[in-house]
Amino acid sequence: MADLRVNFAGISSPNPFWLASAPPTNSGYQVMRAFEAGWGGVVWKTLTDKPIVNTTSRFAGLRLHGQRMVGFNNIELISDRPLADNLREIAEVKRRFPDRAVIASIMIEPKRDLWHEVIKRTQDAGVDGFELNFGCPHGMAERGMGAAVGQHPDLVKMQTEWAKEAATVPVIAKLTPNITDIRVTAQAARAGGADAVSMINTINSLMGVDLNTWNTIPHIDGRGAHGGYCGPAVKPIALHMVAECAKDPLVGIPISGMGGISDWRDAVEFMLMGSTSVQVCTAVMHHGFRIVEDMLDGLNNYLDDKGILRAMDLVGQATGKYGDWNRLNLRYQTVAKIDEDTCIRCNKCYVACEDSAHQAIQMIANKEDGKSRYHLEVVRDECVGCNLCYEVCPVDGCITMEVVDNGLDAVTWSDLQDTVAHGNR
Ligand SMILES: Cc1cc2nc3c(=O)[nH]c(=O)nc-3n(C[C@H](O)[C@H](O)[C@H](O)COP(=O)(O)O)c2cc1C
Ligand code: SF4
Ligand code: SF4
Repeated sequence: MADLRVNFAGISSPNPFWLASAPPTNSGYQVMRAFEAGWGGVVWKTLTDKPIVNTTSRFAGLRLHGQRMVGFNNIELISDRPLADNLREIAEVKRRFPDRAVIASIMIEPKRDLWHEVIKRTQDAGVDGFELNFGCPHGMAERGMGAAVGQHPDLVKMQTEWAKEAATVPVIAKLTPNITDIRVTAQAARAGGADAVSMINTINSLMGVDLNTWNTIPHIDGRGAHGGYCGPAVKPIALHMVAECAKDPLVGIPISGMGGISDWRDAVEFMLMGSTSVQVCTAVMHHGFRIVEDMLDGLNNYLDDKGILRAMDLVGQATGKYGDWNRLNLRYQTVAKIDEDTCIRCNKCYVACEDSAHQAIQMIANKEDGKSRYHLEVVRDECVGCNLCYEVCPVDGCITMEVVDNGLDAVTWSDLQDTVAHGNR
């Protein structure tokens, strides 16, 4: 059994699985139940000096082919409970679960003294760290907080500095994805003294429009507002942002990754790409706290199978395999191969390749086959190895992408540019 403990920027946690700041971390009752289920840490639902007012309703889910909450949209604000109540409960949670990580998410008006005051009061409750919410894209942003800060590197730096002036525990800056290049704000957070960054908060979104009433989904008394998008659908965006920050030496501080993590596999991917801890919100809102049991088992088995002794040893192992396009081997070649035995003749691959790829799949008449009148074959010389047929095929393993040994040495676009620059093309 591997050692699942992580040390995230000085914050220790018995495992890397944290609940993200969100409805599941809104109260001591919930957090204690989450810890009983096995979560290693929580980021408490964002606190500020005075409670806010929420709307009803506030959530909407994207459904896809019968599956619910593939993507999730919310226009919820930060904690609508009094700060004093939250702090009392945080202290109680820390007393009962001293080994777990309890991080306070905070969002404060742009007033330095108020930052200091809230940080000191919250720190007295015994939190292990702060997460600065520079990411909430709706409601708070219109008040000059959340993403309104996270979209301006100078504000990220300044408010991180304010937090650091008062905090004696590690400070994590939680960044917004609603920005062109997240590395810029990650660097600003570091310049402001942040001990770590976390990402992603939710992505600006409008879930839909009701075709009968023409109201937005969701609507509040006939009006809608942009919301924050999360859940499985955002995972590739989040993973990319984690990877970008992880490989940037100017960021160079630990990362807590989140966005679409639903199971241990997602979590491992985030860790391999550079996250030390991983946070989960939507999957818990969908399935409950107990999903952590599978996450713990899955991670444990994975580490054992790989002969890896510590979860921490996963962190950043795949970062070096990810980079810019101009470093890719342009001579690497694959071709599709169709397995006639498992093919159900749905023709999806044929149509995809004919209409959207390179017309490399042929229907070959079967002369002696009692099963079907034809089978599909890939014309190897026409196939560019684009993967489209592989992606559309409904039968797992029916189409494989085979590596072609073309005898050519690897060459990248950068190599070619160097060759041109040195005049020996
Ligand atoms: C209903 C809801 C409320 C949220 N409230 C907060 C919040 O108060 N503070 C915060 O930093 N993030 C908040 N988030 C964002 C989550 O912490 C997280 O960044 C995001 O949901 C991505 O993770 P996921 O795909 O696992 O849900 C909220 C998300 C949802 C769905
Ligand atoms: S990999 Fe692309 S080009 Fe090759 S057969 Fe499939 S769809 Fe056609
Ligand atoms: S998509 Fe897959 S199952 Fe369908 S015809 Fe092509 S290879 Fe066969």
